[in-house]
Amino acid sequence: MRKRFVIAIDGPGASGKSTTAKLLAKKMKYIYIDTGAMYRACGLCSLENNIDLKDIKALEKMLDNMEIQIKYSQTGNQIFLNGKDISSRIREADITKLSSEIAVIDIVRKKMVELQRQIGKDGGVIMDGRDIGTVVFPNADFKFFMIADVETRALRRWKEAKDKGEKISLNDIEKELVWRDRNDSTRDIAPLKQAEDAIAVDTSDMTIQEQVDFILNVIKKGKRRKIYSFICITLYFFMRVVWRLEIIHKERLESIENCIIAANHISAFDPLFIGAIIPGEIYYLAKAELFKNKLLEKLLKHVNVIPVKRGRIDKGAIRVVNEVLQKGHSIMIFPEGTRKATSVKAGIGKFALQLQKDIRPIFIKNSTDFWKCFSGKRRLQIIIAEKIKAESFSQLEDTKENYRNLASNVMKKILELENEC
Ligand code: CDP
Repeated sequence: MRKRFVIAIDGPGASGKSTTAKLLAKKMKYIYIDTGAMYRACGLCSLENNIDLKDIKALEKMLDNMEIQIKYSQTGNQIFLNGKDISSRIREADITKLSSEIAVIDIVRKKMVELQRQIGKDGGVIMDGRDIGTVVFPNADFKFFMIADVETRALRRWKEAKDKGEKISLNDIEKELVWRDRNDSTRDIAPLKQAEDAIAVDTSDMTIQEQVDFILNVIKKGKRRKIYSFICITLYFFMRVVWRLEIIHKERLESIENCIIAANHISAFDPLFIGAIIPGEIYYLAKAELFKNKLLEKLLKHVNVIPVKRGRIDKGAIRVVNEVLQKGHSIMIFPEGTRKATSVKAGIGKFALQLQKDIRPIFIKNSTDFWKCFSGKRRLQIIIAEKIKAESFSQLEDTKENYRNLASNVMKKILELENEC
């Protein structure tokens, strides 16, 4: 599994891409690539060499002889054109317009895209531009599309210009942004547009810190999800090959969503085994003591385990379970609580009743018999029941007795599934 991602940030001018990307790169120790600077360098090169943008032959020659170098640093990249530092020159207004004009030309884009792919091929990059998520890295690990209303963007650019001592009116900046937006998004090749799988971030009312935090959060969650599915796929393979897994009523797996999954509990592997066969992510509850071991804590968090303090009502855990279910995920609860339990706990009834969520009973068999499964005498069996619809208990009052009764009924349904083996 590749650990260093390619992160694509696209969007119109002054939407907050480069500020966010720079800070993210610093935080993640990634390289930041400002692809706009490359088109700006092309614009400058054409200007310095008096090249007519319609003269494709001359442009071709220019691109062949042009060397763009980027020096990466945590404080900001420097860009060199044929050995000369052009980092500040390319930010001037004439080059801004020229960059957008030269960026519509096919041969220019081909050359730049090739260079960008080369730089990003090993991952560990945050690249901002207009076509990173759509053309340069359509398989980027994370794609963001930053937007902001044009007035906000113009104001940001005007403040930047003022700080640099440049004299340019807010109105002129806004006009230039509108012109570039149109030029960039209506061109035939690699127009500015949101990739289908990109996450839109409207930065109009966001602070820089909020923008960075938002993106970091998405990356953190995505990273966890990738690790989670890697673990599930690996485990599923072992379950099939080594435990000779059989799933009864497999077709019911597809409809498992946003519900409480309730299973019997005979082996420590049960939560993982059940989790590995269910499409999508599910969450689990586990005793808080397991989280004392730092290594185990890391692993458990990656597989969506929520710690629960035992022996008293853990309000924190209840809140997290509520959040998980309200966000549309599913959660696995063992009505018996632990493997050694002798009675059913009321907890599952309380969650189902209070949150009015469907319950999906599942029975797991032979998960304690590794050798018998491995040697072919038995097989790991998982039986999926029809769901117990929330409507069937929606009329019940919110009382402890009803929690207990519902929990007992669920356990009964689970145990009945054994007859289907
Ligand atoms: O910083 P700002 O967003 O104003 O512009 P930039 O990112 O430096 O890009 C300057 C120009 O280069 C844009 O207006 C686009 O026309 C072009 N560009 C592009 O076509 N494709 C990219 N990947 C990046 C920039």
